[in-house]
Amino acid sequence: MAQATSALERRYGDTQRTDRWWLEPLLVGSGLALFILYSTVSAVLGEHWAFETERHLYLSPFFEPLIHPGWLPAWLSPAAFILWAPLGFRTTCYYYRRAYYRAYFLSPPACAVREPASSYKGESVFPLVLQNAHRWFMYVAVLFVPVLWIGAVKSYHLPGEGFGIGLGSLMLTINAFLLMMFTIGCHALRHWVAGGLNQFSRSPFRRLRRRVWEVFTIANEHHKLWAWTSLIFVGVTDLYIHLVATGVITDPHTWSGPI
Ligand code: FES
Repeated sequence: MAQATSALERRYGDTQRTDRWWLEPLLVGSGLALFILYSTVSAVLGEHWAFETERHLYLSPFFEPLIHPGWLPAWLSPAAFILWAPLGFRTTCYYYRRAYYRAYFLSPPACAVREPASSYKGESVFPLVLQNAHRWFMYVAVLFVPVLWIGAVKSYHLPGEGFGIGLGSLMLTINAFLLMMFTIGCHALRHWVAGGLNQFSRSPFRRLRRRVWEVFTIANEHHKLWAWTSLIFVGVTDLYIHLVATGVITDPHTWSGPI
């Protein structure tokens, strides 16, 4: 009888939960798959790689910073030079790991739901040990924050016409803000600025480190929120600039003529 009970307990998907626990992994899995599909088509396979408007006012965040030296073959998307960094940063992010382990590997499908694995080695063996590269991706990803802010600020100035504002400028600004909040809320970055300290008072830069840690903690507390809003908005911004650049829609702005 005892053996029968333990065999039953090990059955995959067993749970006493009565709520719709499967809904979150389903939504997360669908959302991530949609973003991966869209970003791949847009950044790598799309016919117009860098979605710049006529007078180069807006550049899609998928291509910031735009790097495409003349000696490279024309078929190679400039996104290939830069997307590995934000992609690696997000893929190894602690929140995203939890999300796609559940959504794609069902390991576990949800809290208190029986998973198929009979043993657990964590991320200490290959291939999951590679997730520890997150800190290294973080060092590169932080560089994208000022780059995106510079792109956003530049979008308020049209050469020959001066300063103005367009819907695209606002979208690039919101995109830079969301990406900044996601990045500074990173657990690894927060540890980097103030980790390894038993007492702030013993650090030579105690005031600065404490202050930065406090600010980063504000973002860190809602890391999941920033992860999703920044992911969705970067895709929406790319799509918007693509539609403006190809003439499908017109950007409302304060300058005269096309942008
Ligand atoms: S933990 Fe999510 S970005 Fe670092």
